[in-house]
Amino acid sequence: MLCWFQMPGSNPFQDPVRFQRRVRPCALVIFGANGDLTKRKLIPALYRLAYERRLPTGFAIVGTSRTPLTHDAYRDQMKEAVQRFSEDTPLDENIWRDFASGLFYEAGDLQDPACYAAIAARLDEIEATRQTGGNVLFYLSTQPSHYGPAIRGLAASGLHRGKGWRRIVVEKPFGVDLSSARALDAELHLAFAEEDVYRIDHYLGKETVQNILAFRFGNGLFEPLWNRRYIRNIQITAAESIGVEGRGRYYQEAGALRDMIQNHLLQIMATVAMEPPAVFEARSVRDERAKLLRSIRLFKPGEAATHAVAGQYGPAKSGGAKLLGFREDECVSPHANTDTYAAVPFFVDNWRRAGVPFYIRTGKRLAKRVTDVAIQYNDAPHSPFEAAGMEDAVLGARPNLLVLRVQPEEGISLRFLSKQPGSGMKLRPVSMDFKYGSSFGVRSPAAYETLLLDALGGDATLYTRQDMVEASWNAVTPILEDWGNRNFDFPNYDAGSWGPAESDAMLARRGDSWRTP
Ligand code: BG6
Repeated sequence: MLCWFQMPGSNPFQDPVRFQRRVRPCALVIFGANGDLTKRKLIPALYRLAYERRLPTGFAIVGTSRTPLTHDAYRDQMKEAVQRFSEDTPLDENIWRDFASGLFYEAGDLQDPACYAAIAARLDEIEATRQTGGNVLFYLSTQPSHYGPAIRGLAASGLHRGKGWRRIVVEKPFGVDLSSARALDAELHLAFAEEDVYRIDHYLGKETVQNILAFRFGNGLFEPLWNRRYIRNIQITAAESIGVEGRGRYYQEAGALRDMIQNHLLQIMATVAMEPPAVFEARSVRDERAKLLRSIRLFKPGEAATHAVAGQYGPAKSGGAKLLGFREDECVSPHANTDTYAAVPFFVDNWRRAGVPFYIRTGKRLAKRVTDVAIQYNDAPHSPFEAAGMEDAVLGARPNLLVLRVQPEEGISLRFLSKQPGSGMKLRPVSMDFKYGSSFGVRSPAAYETLLLDALGGDATLYTRQDMVEASWNAVTPILEDWGNRNFDFPNYDAGSWGPAESDAMLARRGDSWRTP
């Protein structure tokens, strides 16, 4: 029967399965149960889901790592983690007691078959007492060097198959380059089918990153202007004010390009630049993202040396306090050649985006913490107001700017010129602002809450896929290779600044400039 109130058929957000999904009873096994990620993100996110009663009845967690601990000692540690890292969720003793009754711990070495036997026995007991139906999600939250042993251990013990479904979440980094990413993928497929592998990139779970799709494809207003005819450049910034905070050893090997651009920022770029999917479900959305990542123009050998900028922070003073330089970190070599800042101009070779630079930058110990996407539209082709005197301010704060603020102060703002009240025709840039907090008045779920619930519910829409991972490695490999052959004159920016001067020069050569977020 024809219904007059149907949404138009072209709206990609009308997939009833994703939006009305209920998670079936299941258990979660976390490898790396004592690690930083588990304490800071996973357990607080799971507790929040319990607090909102969004976890299925009988839900259980089995944590595993080397340290010998009783179930109760592990529960106490996780309670402390929730108290410390759950920024906006109060610890309710009743909810915690219930949550903790489904929290178990099995100590073991991932190389030792006994570890998997202990997990299997615990899962059998959980299945019998908590009716989880044999459904299990494994989560690799260990050091990446332990991924292989854990996958092989699951396969050898038969834990990768069972009465219910078996899935696996793999934390980033997914490899350290293209060949290691392929090797990891091959290993995963020895045990798991592709539809059961969830490669996580937590940026895709952020509300504001998901909202880029809603903003673009839920409205008819913006998409017609989302192309090379109107856009001058797109700037994607992920600035952090913190340094490497105890992760110096990992970070020294990874660097900013690998740590942030290869994954999070290329995924944001894909979200900003991909074509509309037909429906909002895993395959269509991931196909479009992958297509976009594959159309990123690759740097030719040697090009990155002149076009992309690497930086490393040195010591500085801030309000009387001394900020240590990267090489002064206790886990970092005093000669480390690591990039703690990276700025890269990417181009997309397709009809809609050709010629539009995507300037991507990220860095540690920058002036402030902010992640945003700024779409700089072309100036008006001719201004009839020039004679009447454009305010100088206009030049410093360009109008025709659309900013999608990922974090903090999540929202969207549009800057345009307006007539200043009074006689004459003086123009000033003004902003129209949408703020998540005040507009919806509800808390936005943290990325890990969304993504954990999605994996438990079997929805991979917001997870990456192997072809996306490989396309991203392809895009950064020529830069990594060029940088690997160079000896940088580091440090080249002060802690607390906006990065190296070469980064400004790189944009200036193209007639552009970084905006200050
Ligand atoms: C991680 C990186 O993936 O993302 C970290 O390894 C970085 O170096 C972090 O600090 C940033 O995440 P968020 O959600 O705080 O922006």
